[in-house]
Amino acid sequence: MVSLCALTAASPTVPALALAAPGGGAPPTPHAAARALHAQTLGDLDTTLHGEAFAHASYLLFAAEADREGHPAVGKLFRSTAHTELNEHLHQAAVLAGLVGTNAANLRRAIDGETYEHQVMYHRFADQAREDGDLEAADLFSEIAADEGRHRSAFRTALTAVTTGRGTVPAPPEADMVPVPAGLPKVKAARTKANLDTAMRGEALAHAKYMLFAAHARQSGNAALARLFEGTAKVEAHEHLAGEAVLAGLVRTTKENLRTAVTGERHEATTVYPGFAERATAVGDTAAARFFRDTAGDEARHAAAFQEALD
Ligand SMILES: [Fe+2]
Ligand SMILES: [Fe+2]
Ligand SMILES: [Fe+2]
Ligand SMILES: [Fe+2]
Repeated sequence: MVSLCALTAASPTVPALALAAPGGGAPPTPHAAARALHAQTLGDLDTTLHGEAFAHASYLLFAAEADREGHPAVGKLFRSTAHTELNEHLHQAAVLAGLVGTNAANLRRAIDGETYEHQVMYHRFADQAREDGDLEAADLFSEIAADEGRHRSAFRTALTAVTTGRGTVPAPPEADMVPVPAGLPKVKAARTKANLDTAMRGEALAHAKYMLFAAHARQSGNAALARLFEGTAKVEAHEHLAGEAVLAGLVRTTKENLRTAVTGERHEATTVYPGFAERATAVGDTAAARFFRDTAGDEARHAAAFQEALD
């Protein structure tokens, strides 16, 4: 697990203003910076958050596979790159997007996300998987839907404790650690595969978001809330995303994982981030444009490092 302690430190390029908002009577930081951004830039930042969260989660799984195959240097490269995706790229995008607010605002955001996953997304995915004969995936989606309902309840109780002082913040859930060895997809329908992909990206972002919310809760002096966010973040990554990754065949041999990483990094470096930078520049969002440009440069270096490991 990558340490998130760096999230509490001010980034060299983007001030950690949103992360530093105290939990008490501070202004709900969603947020002067975010409000000033063009809607298109905010959309591109949202895409960035999903992409970086998924890269972070995938690289940690690829690192574990490299270790299993006896390639510790490649494992180390995947882990250090995962760290950059989360603690630099995602963190800076989160600050620009005003993702982190007060503890109450963060809980409301978490409740909204859990509600959507519990009531809408996972039920639809389960029904579709059942229709398509992917029964293992259907069962997993249904199980996760139930978990998300429990996450929502815990966050609701925590919100009451934070806003009214009534009751206490619930204890964090226990994560069932699911190993993700190299393997082919275990589902047959293209629709199930696509839904697994959407679900994994949602879980990766939920994990990253809750770790940011936990860092803020700890900074604001609410250790119990920090533990609730951290424990829930672990369930999202090590149980939900991991279970989906097994069915999706996300992890392959280290050679294939390196190829996947090179392709993804090159695409980000040459197409995605330069495009976002150009759009941000065109609408006058210069800080965001600078972030997208710098990030494109980082991704080009990641692509080169993975290519070198492959060679
Ligand atoms: Fe990145
Ligand atoms: Fe959840
Ligand atoms: Fe989840
Ligand atoms: Fe990268």
